[in-house]
Amino acid sequence: MKVAVLGAAGGIGQALSLLLKTNLPAGSELSLYDVAPVVPGVAVDLSHIPTDVKVKGFGKDDLAAALTGCDIVLIPAGVPRKPGMDRSDLFNINAGIVKNLVEGIAENCPNACTCIITNPVNTTVAIAAETLKAKGVYDKNKLFGVTTLDVIRAETFVAELKDKDPANIHVPVIGGHSGTTILPLLSQVEGVEFSDEEISSLTHRIQNAGTEVVEAKAGGGSATLSMGQAAARFCLSLAKAMQGEDVIEYTYVQTDDSEDAAFFSHPVRLGKNGVEEILPYGELSAFEQKAKEDMLEGLRGDIKLGVDFVNG
Ligand code: NAD
Ligand code: LMR
Repeated sequence: MKVAVLGAAGGIGQALSLLLKTNLPAGSELSLYDVAPVVPGVAVDLSHIPTDVKVKGFGKDDLAAALTGCDIVLIPAGVPRKPGMDRSDLFNINAGIVKNLVEGIAENCPNACTCIITNPVNTTVAIAAETLKAKGVYDKNKLFGVTTLDVIRAETFVAELKDKDPANIHVPVIGGHSGTTILPLLSQVEGVEFSDEEISSLTHRIQNAGTEVVEAKAGGGSATLSMGQAAARFCLSLAKAMQGEDVIEYTYVQTDDSEDAAFFSHPVRLGKNGVEEILPYGELSAFEQKAKEDMLEGLRGDIKLGVDFVNG
């Protein structure tokens, strides 16, 4: 398994790379790419950890070498939010960064699974899809928006509220990755009951958890450590699935479902070639159904922005 992290010297990139160095299957290779000059040092630092995962750092002119032969590419490159900003305020800078990096993927490892972390995810995944299409190498089963952070947050907050072990709590989260497009399905959580008031306040907390971190960091960025953990979980699940295990994760993928949006987080069965099957997300409560209907137009607009960015 060869895995690349693009933006590896950043807050997410370093946390994620540490978790991959210590958890990827033996014999794997890890390529760390960043435009920041510290990236070779990050690679040397990680290389002193005694695991059977080879780490190599690549500077700004070495994207092709970083990507050649990769099976999985994770992209956390780009700027994070500051207090008062929405994720959509990152579009102007991050759209071009994602487009350039995905062009590198198309040219150097067109069969890799590409996992987009850079915000605004609702839009950057559409940018990645259109970029791959323009290069003639798009496979909708190999492009993922990483929404795992919404799932781990939802599980943490439910466990906290109900005094349970988070390891035993499973919360489906569908939709997109911004504000009300993040839709936790609390009606489907097994083994706990919620009052209407709890559903309303928990849903709001899960939807605003990114902002909770941005405000707490007071100008120092957004979630990096929990995101590193979330992205590592997603990457390790994908790696297991590519090696033949049956794995299901929630992730933002092309759905071809005109009733929702062109991209939508679903439970997905992962396999050797990425998405094996997009699973239905089941029945929604009246509260969830209304929340979904209310956010769809916004999500579709976010996706259109990405499509238009590439196609003009
Ligand atoms: P950061 O500023 O700490 O790190 C970003 C890194 O990207 C830096 O090292 C920078 O040098 C690098 N970079 C910039 N342009 C690049 C390019 N063209 N090629 C390669 N590397 C480049 O930021 P961070 O906190 O790690 O966040 C990164 C992104 O992830 C932000 O857009 C943030 O909003 C997003 N994010 C997404 C989620 C999610 O759930 N999907 C969660 C948290 C953060
Ligand atoms: C998050 O959910 O923490 C990320 O999308 C970063 C952000 O800007 O909130």
